[in-house]
Amino acid sequence: MTTLAIIGGTGLTQLSDLTIINREQLDTPYGSPSAEFVTGELNGSRIIFLARHGNPHTIAPHKINYRANIWGLKQLGVEQIIAVAAVGGITCEMAPAHIAIPDQIIDYSYGRLHTFFEDEAVQHIDFTYPYNQKLRSRLINAAATANIKISPLGTYGCTQGPRLETTAEIQRMERDGCDLVGMTGMPEAALAKELGIDYAAISVVANWAAGKSEGEITMEEIERHLHKGMANTAELLKAFVG
Ligand code: HPA
Repeated sequence: MTTLAIIGGTGLTQLSDLTIINREQLDTPYGSPSAEFVTGELNGSRIIFLARHGNPHTIAPHKINYRANIWGLKQLGVEQIIAVAAVGGITCEMAPAHIAIPDQIIDYSYGRLHTFFEDEAVQHIDFTYPYNQKLRSRLINAAATANIKISPLGTYGCTQGPRLETTAEIQRMERDGCDLVGMTGMPEAALAKELGIDYAAISVVANWAAGKSEGEITMEEIERHLHKGMANTAELLKAFVG
């Protein structure tokens, strides 16, 4: 049986429908993962859950030890990862609380430890399709089964954070072809690919990106929309594993 992991981001520090079987703190050659790895049953299927920002949520996007997280999952035998993350919506379909299954990435982050191939054994992984197409299709089908409206495509732009973007930055990202903006999609996706783990993402829109709506982006607004988006995400995940 394939071992599946779910990485939860902001708004998904734990999976409330998960029946917990085991919690495991792991050390890796790259340091400590964000949190303990929680093994449990979701809708009858065994999965491993990891809180990307720690539990409680304390680790900023640029401080996450992405390598330890992915290495730890590999050590536990994980072959597939569904990564959930909050994003800002750039293009008109990507309204707050909406869900997208992105198919492409542009990486604007910098200074992150982003590869396992540092020393002698340099390898250049093919990253034409950063997300696994089969996993994406299964997520899209699960959304249809659960009657959840999603966007089946989208380009995810990864910024450094933790600040949000300027209007000009979002305009540039839109010209580049980004539909969504988040802070944690990279190097996570690339590291999973380096270790041969199938990886797909669920992007949950928390807010209109900078300059795409009137006024300031507030934490209150983000939390309100995420609450709704994450409730749909939980249903989507249940349909996906079931
Ligand atoms: N920008 C970057 N990351 C985000 C945003 C945003 O507007 N909203 C949620 N995560």
